[in-house]
Amino acid sequence: MEKVTPRVIRKAKSVNRKLSVLTAYDYPLAKILDEAGIDIVLVGDSVGNVVLGYKNTRPVTMEDMVHHTKAVARGVKRALVVADIPYRSNSVKNAKRLVKAGAKAVKIEGVKGVKAIVKAGIPVMGHLGYLPQSGKKPKVQRSKKIVKDARELEKAGVFAIVLEMVDPKIAKEVTKTVKVPTIGIGSGKNCDGQVLVTYDLIGLSDWSPKFVKKTVSLKDQISRAVKKYIARVKK
Ligand code: KIV
Repeated sequence: MEKVTPRVIRKAKSVNRKLSVLTAYDYPLAKILDEAGIDIVLVGDSVGNVVLGYKNTRPVTMEDMVHHTKAVARGVKRALVVADIPYRSNSVKNAKRLVKAGAKAVKIEGVKGVKAIVKAGIPVMGHLGYLPQSGKKPKVQRSKKIVKDARELEKAGVFAIVLEMVDPKIAKEVTKTVKVPTIGIGSGKNCDGQVLVTYDLIGLSDWSPKFVKKTVSLKDQISRAVKKYIARVKK
C-alpha cells in the first residue's frame, strides 16, 4: 500500500495517471473513500453549505475545519488528506493548525499567501477559477489571467491546482502550461484529475451543479429506510 504524498501527486502527471479527489467531512465517509482507493480526501470548506447548513462557505471557521479534519484524518490510512483554509484565515499559523489536526497539506483559494505557507514547509494545493469564498454565484470563468495565476502558483511551489468552473479551453491550456497536476471541477475533461463534492456524487445534497453525474440517490434510499423504520415502530 503506497501512501499518497504530495510527491506522488506531482509525479502522477509525468506518467499520465489521472487523479481522483473527493470531499469528506467525517470519519465514516473518509474511511469509505480511502478504502475504495481515492487519491486525495479533501476536507473542503464546502462543509459549510453541504453539512452545516450555511448559505455558502464564508461562515466556516478555523475551529470547524480543525474539528472536521481531525475526524477525517482518523478514517484515512492511505490517501492524502488535504484541508481547506477557510475564508479570511490564510496564514502560516492556521496552516500549521490544520496540519496538527491531521492534514498532510492545505488548499488555498487564489494566489495570496501561498508562497509563505510553502516556505514554512507545508504542502499547498492551489485553487483557481470560480472561488466559492468570493461569495459570488457560481459561473464559468473565462479570464486568461487564470493561466498567469497558475504559473505564479507553480512558481510558489504548489503540488497541484484545483480548477473550478474554468472554461474547458482555458483549463486545457493551464494543464499544458504547468508541470503540476490540475484537478478539475466543472472544467472539462482535459485536466490531470477530477474533484467532486461527494454529497453531490451520491445524491445527498439539496442542490448540485449541472456538471455532476450522480451515481446514486442516497437521499431517496435514506428516506425509504426512515419511512420503513417509522412504520415498523408504529406497528
Ligand atoms: O470546498 C470544497 O469542497 C472545494 C471543492 C469544490 C474543490 O473546494
